[in-house]
Amino acid sequence: MADRKLHVACIMDGNGRWARRRGLPRTAGHTAGEEALAVITRAAGDRNIGWLTVFGFSTENWIRPRAEVRHILAMHKKLFGRLDELNENDVRVNWIGRRFDEPGSRTPGYVQRAIKRAIDDTAGNTRMVFTVAFDYGGRAELTRAAQLASSGRGAAHVDPKQISDALYDPSLPDVDLLIRTSGETRISNFLLWQINGAKVYFTEKTWPDMTAEEFDRALAVLN
Ligand code: IPE
Ligand code: IPE
Ligand code: MG
Repeated sequence: MADRKLHVACIMDGNGRWARRRGLPRTAGHTAGEEALAVITRAAGDRNIGWLTVFGFSTENWIRPRAEVRHILAMHKKLFGRLDELNENDVRVNWIGRRFDEPGSRTPGYVQRAIKRAIDDTAGNTRMVFTVAFDYGGRAELTRAAQLASSGRGAAHVDPKQISDALYDPSLPDVDLLIRTSGETRISNFLLWQINGAKVYFTEKTWPDMTAEEFDRALAVLN
């Protein structure tokens, strides 16, 4: 494994299937998924990982039933509210996604405030950067980056470095390992620019069944 700290990204999929297999409502799967994320965040912090980036909610996920979206939003408030735990583990919270003032942004104020507070209250932590992609889409990110990079200089003069610098968070390094749970082998519009060069690990496990041991099996593909 590389000496420098790693960037691991997770497409946390299969909450609904986890619940269905247990005869539970999909919302129970999202609650269990939030718990699994707390476990994986701790595990990542204990390993040689400098950046953990997770796909929490996509620009495409708003079309889900309203009650499910409401529950997922509440789970994000809970996730961004785990401040004692995050501070104890020296984890800095970060967020990527559609800007709240952009047309089409639908993130409610209470989630915006939870995100801002988590970022502010963990800003001094240095062990790991924990980035939640919320209302995130890779195409939206790249379209905005292309627009920003070309404004003022003309599209013909845009180079890859300028696109990189105009991403939601230009300080995120390229992803070393991308993990997707629940047996789907799609990228689903996640970190399209940043996964260039990443290894990809697909597991049949649903996200709520994700464990530190499975996370280690995924990391082993980097050896
Ligand atoms: C991932 O689980 C969580 C989100 C996309 C918000 P799903 O809700 O997509 O679960 P499945 O894919 O239906 O099992
Ligand atoms: C990807 O999962 C998005 C998140 C994990 C937040 P989806 O369940 O939305 O992806 P598709 O629709 O199966 O590709
Ligand atoms: Mg899914």
